[in-house]
Amino acid sequence: MDIFEEIKLKGYAEEYIDPTLDLFDEIEKLKKEKNAVILAHYYQDPDIQDIADYIGDSLGLSQEAAKTSADIIVFAGVHFMAETAKILSPTKKVLLPDAKAGCSLADSCPPHLFKKFKEQYPDHLVITYVNCTAELKAMSDIVCTSSNAIAIVESLPIDQKIIFGPDKNLGAYVAKKTGRDLVLWNGACMVHEIFSREKITKLKERHPGAKLLAHPECEDVILQMADYIGSTTGILKYATNHPDKEFIVATEPGIIHQMQKDNPDKVFIPAPPNNNCACNDCPHMKRNTLEKLYLCLKNERPEIDVPADIIEKAVIPIERMLEISARLGL
Ligand code: 13P
Ligand code: SF4
Repeated sequence: MDIFEEIKLKGYAEEYIDPTLDLFDEIEKLKKEKNAVILAHYYQDPDIQDIADYIGDSLGLSQEAAKTSADIIVFAGVHFMAETAKILSPTKKVLLPDAKAGCSLADSCPPHLFKKFKEQYPDHLVITYVNCTAELKAMSDIVCTSSNAIAIVESLPIDQKIIFGPDKNLGAYVAKKTGRDLVLWNGACMVHEIFSREKITKLKERHPGAKLLAHPECEDVILQMADYIGSTTGILKYATNHPDKEFIVATEPGIIHQMQKDNPDKVFIPAPPNNNCACNDCPHMKRNTLEKLYLCLKNERPEIDVPADIIEKAVIPIERMLEISARLGL
């Protein structure tokens, strides 16, 4: 087998790529030529984070997608994120390096079942976590992310009845912090559900000075142990601003690339999962590679399309979230 066939078979990309090409240079050239912007989530591969124009959490990425003047948005993240960008910027071409980069949390809430669930609570407002399909957003009153979920719930009158979905862990955390009685959809993220309390306890014994930083998609047993709970941007900022030098990170380990870059003198230890795997990577996020990013910019596909009637409905709750966030300086 020659090297080209090998590259193809390894699933790096669906098309032959000349192995002598410097993909960083090629991507830079294509970006300028096509007036494209690359938005990347912190869970992406280090190479993708390094070539991106903007790296952020779900809120930051939505804010960036709403205001970009680029003609093409390459969304280095997962499907629901690219859909959100398309809903906010429907006249732009939105590309996702791997069309199969989905999300277990979004998949845990099929829209037809959520519709029936919602019908049981006619006097409730629906807040959906951004990690859901465009169809679900179209059924919602306000969208939220992990960095503004508490503020969004608190922006509503105290007696307002609320359905929160699809993440039960984030929902339970928000209910606890706000004292509100939220009706929760029973969904979860496959990455954040599998952190092991026992293994983290042992890790803390070995690193008694280390602070545990956790994403609110983690289960309550993990959150109870945490020194700080927040979105990926929150976790990064906490580690940067905190004088301590050692941190255990209970979220997808892709974030550690930026944490380490911003804090070369500090130590970041990924929290271990409760299975026999060596890492806790999100298999969806990690479908994107530098090779696929290059090809997607070159060929302008896979392109994300959202039906016009869904965009019309889904944009309302997303813009509500952005307005509340802007008002609160988030
Ligand atoms: P944030 O980007 O809000 O931190 O959420 C993490 C996540 O799970 C994205 O899929
Ligand atoms: Fe979805 Fe979890 Fe992966 Fe985020 S980390 S994209 S919530 S499966």
